[in-house]
Amino acid sequence: MTFNRSRRRFLAQGFALASAPYCLPLLAQHVSPDLPIPDLLDGRSGDPLTLEIRSGQWSFIPGFKTHTMGFNQGFLGPTIRTRKNSELNLHYLNKLNEGVAVHGHGLHVPGSVDGGPHLEIPQGEVWSPSISIVQPAATCWYHSHTHHKSGSQTYRGLAGMMIIDDDDSDAMDLPSRYGIDDLPIIIQDKTFDEQGQLVYSLYDAGHDGWFGETVVINGAINPLARVPAGKVRLRLLNGANARFYIVTFADNRVFHKIASDGGLLKSPVPLTTMEIAPGERCEIIVDMADGKPAEMLTLFEDDVDQDEQGLLSGMLNLFADSESASKPVSLTLRVDPGLASNTAPLPENLADIARPLESEIERTREFLLTMEMNDENESTEEHADQASHAAMDMGINGVSMNMDVINERVEKGVWERWRVKSDMGEHPFHVHGCSFLVETVEGEPAPPRHQGWKDVVVTDDDGWSEFVVRFDHTADEQTPYMYHCHILEHEDRGMMGQFTVA
Ligand code: C2O
Ligand code: CU
Ligand code: CU
Repeated sequence: MTFNRSRRRFLAQGFALASAPYCLPLLAQHVSPDLPIPDLLDGRSGDPLTLEIRSGQWSFIPGFKTHTMGFNQGFLGPTIRTRKNSELNLHYLNKLNEGVAVHGHGLHVPGSVDGGPHLEIPQGEVWSPSISIVQPAATCWYHSHTHHKSGSQTYRGLAGMMIIDDDDSDAMDLPSRYGIDDLPIIIQDKTFDEQGQLVYSLYDAGHDGWFGETVVINGAINPLARVPAGKVRLRLLNGANARFYIVTFADNRVFHKIASDGGLLKSPVPLTTMEIAPGERCEIIVDMADGKPAEMLTLFEDDVDQDEQGLLSGMLNLFADSESASKPVSLTLRVDPGLASNTAPLPENLADIARPLESEIERTREFLLTMEMNDENESTEEHADQASHAAMDMGINGVSMNMDVINERVEKGVWERWRVKSDMGEHPFHVHGCSFLVETVEGEPAPPRHQGWKDVVVTDDDGWSEFVVRFDHTADEQTPYMYHCHILEHEDRGMMGQFTVA
């Protein structure tokens, strides 16, 4: 693929980090740890799964204990496995000293169990949603969605993966042995101080949101996974607060994208580089049959974007030189010949994806993401205290997120076309309670890798991104759905709106 669009980011900041993106002093002696594989919590039988939300410690850097948050563990949470046509019973227990809302990102569920900011669990309390899973196989995730705190809590560790299975995907010979040839890969970036503690500040984040300096994969820096000599499925989740990554391999090998946010694509798409925006999931198949290690790079899009394709290939040439000490490898897959491998060819057809007819689309809505809101906000009560005043300076369609205002009312079961654009820079726009089909991205027809079910679409100030969507569940005024920018600092600063479905 080529980066043929102008990738205009917010020019005012980001350059300080661009010169030293990989925290070298701390990592000079780095020996690859094993890739942490989160425990699998099997919810397929409907038995309740307990998730204790707590503060903890995690060792990202040898010799340092970092204060973190997690679900049942120090940092991040277990992978929840569920299945189409089953009931997922969760039991969240909030042991933090603050409230927390936990959203199931990508789930087609009613607003009452969606885990938006109205469903904040007070400290010490329990929330037990019973969730009917009716959607096809997909990689989803759960993460903090606490009002004004999604950024800080997710950054500290409140995120985990959720895998939905179904009969159709089971019938295909795709790698599906969790932790062996089917690996959860949660990509984030963090900044550590000299004591190895996480650095984060909503108010000090630039316009781009909070960029960390060091990439962590499942909470490990540059880890190593031992995999069979065959097809390996990576369930990539961009769980970063703000960073867009370009995923590629040091040897420029071809990999196949088989699924995006909402499930399998029509057919596998061969790629050598792939952008992944905050909140997005991409399942890829890496063929390890040649026995050679695969070094995955997660380049910072804001670094490579200036000279686009030229710079990217320049960087890749540089990394091809194995002597280069600063090769920004974020994950190495190494073959273990002792593991049974899956060498079946990839299915040519993965899923049927039916688009609505134009005549079925009953209405169009437009969303303009606004980076700077003016003083009209200052008088509202919400901004009485200093903290939330500072927080609410971004918006959508001229208004900042207000918990008491329903911005849109949508009719259940009706196809709509949503058009999204920003007044400055790129933003990953996300909608709760649905998956949608993308038609255009930044004014251009959606490329094949986006022609599956999605719940995040990237938009910018050049052209509209458009998708068609239908909501099949309800959300009332007490627990409305959200649409928002998935740069979590933008969300926390008000680039979010609420809608009901009835
Ligand atoms: Cu992943 Cu409203 O969030
Ligand atoms: Cu969501
Ligand atoms: Cu944004």
